[in-house]
Amino acid sequence: MLSDTSRPIIAATAAVVAERIPFITPEFYKRMFGARPDLLDGMFSRSNQITGEQPKALAGSIAAFAIWLLQHPDSYPESVLSRIAHKHASLGLKEDEYPTVYEHLFGAIAADLGDAATPEVVEAWTEVYWLMAHALISMEKNLYASQPNDKPFSPWRVTKKEMTGGNVAVISFEPADDTAVAPARPGQYVSIEVPTPDGIRQPRQFTLIPAPAGTRRIAVKLDPNGEVTPLIHEKLRVGDVYDLSNPYGDLVLRDTQVPLVLASAGIGVTPMLALLHALCERGSQREVIVLHADRSSAEWPLADEMKQLVADLPNARIETWFEEGGDGDHEGYMDISGVSIPWEANVVMCGPLPFLKAVRSQVISSGHPSEQVFYEIFGPDLWLVQGE
Ligand code: FAD
Ligand code: HEM
Repeated sequence: MLSDTSRPIIAATAAVVAERIPFITPEFYKRMFGARPDLLDGMFSRSNQITGEQPKALAGSIAAFAIWLLQHPDSYPESVLSRIAHKHASLGLKEDEYPTVYEHLFGAIAADLGDAATPEVVEAWTEVYWLMAHALISMEKNLYASQPNDKPFSPWRVTKKEMTGGNVAVISFEPADDTAVAPARPGQYVSIEVPTPDGIRQPRQFTLIPAPAGTRRIAVKLDPNGEVTPLIHEKLRVGDVYDLSNPYGDLVLRDTQVPLVLASAGIGVTPMLALLHALCERGSQREVIVLHADRSSAEWPLADEMKQLVADLPNARIETWFEEGGDGDHEGYMDISGVSIPWEANVVMCGPLPFLKAVRSQVISSGHPSEQVFYEIFGPDLWLVQGE
């Protein structure tokens, strides 16, 4: 809980700090990577730095956390913290790095705010930083402790690589050492460390799709403008060994029997496959409505696998939208106004941000409770920081 001394200072400065975040963050990262270039080797995504997305997410989340503390003095934004902690844990982030971020972030804040960064203001924001850091550190410790091994990454050998619709490589792995294999909850992801031509390693997250026990399988959509997926598509071969993290992620199957709506677009099918597979394994009788949007039926990744899982569930059905028309149920972008969604249903969404925003607002404006709508974004979660 924020102290009585800091509360009025945060209330008076939160808006200014939030507004200055876009200016503070480039300076923060310049300082941090200047002092610690090794953090770009195996920890931070270089592309997120270039696009400026992750910087906004990290620093912006601290301003958002401060505003939350002002509005809800007795609680923390648990789901926001949990999402960040899972991402951090998938990268093997250690507690002793928190002072690094503190030092460079606050150096940048002081430089940007100038005389406005009085000792009282700096002290109040330091309190916010460490409240958030300690909440994250404690969640991350629990996540690490829940794993059957103490290695953030372990080596896995590629056993299969095949292409599927829409330029997606489906890759299977088996353990390449005797590290205990952590069981994955359906919907979780792993980080993979990929060596780059200039001699560093770049991590990216990929959702685990159904695979035999003790193995891993991921589906990697090629981003021609990206750094890592072209390397995975071009360089990764059967027999190669890559480091994979233990599984993390909080978009998992909740223990309930209420109807479930799974809305995906493009490569956003991956968590849905994991959830559908888990329902099949449990012999679930739940009503499941699967909604998928894609450019065309040929682009739809792992389409046959998804259709088969739906067919295997007694109370599941599927509806498709293809931008280019053709053999789907609808032409154009997903529009759920014609889909009758039971009011008690949980809605799980995954796809590009514009898709998520559009479908979420359709669901909410139809009167569906927002706390029953869950989503996964395949990138830094700016939505979480900025809201609608
Ligand atoms: P990046 O290098 O990250 O680039 C992304 C974008 O940044 C590019 O399109 C480009 O616009 C810009 N960019 C990059 N470099 C430059 C540059 N030098 N100059 C200018 N702009 C640049 N993906 C899947 O395919 N399947 C999954 O199952 C999956 N699951 C995920 C689960 C989670 C929880 C998360 C967070 C992500 C998931 N992703 C998944 C996305 C994946 O992690 C990668 O973000 C994605 O594959 C792109 O990686 P990349 O390295 O090719 O692109
Ligand atoms: C990701 C917040 C500390 C490294 C993130 C994200 C947020 C965040 C909001 C984006 C989550 C998402 O992708 O949805 C914070 C806060 C911190 C903190 C509030 C301190 C209180 C740290 C530290 C490090 C770190 C100490 C390491 C030095 C990363 C990395 C990512 C990330 C590598 C993944 C994104 C990328 O690769 O660009 N953090 N973080 N964070 N954080 Fe942190």
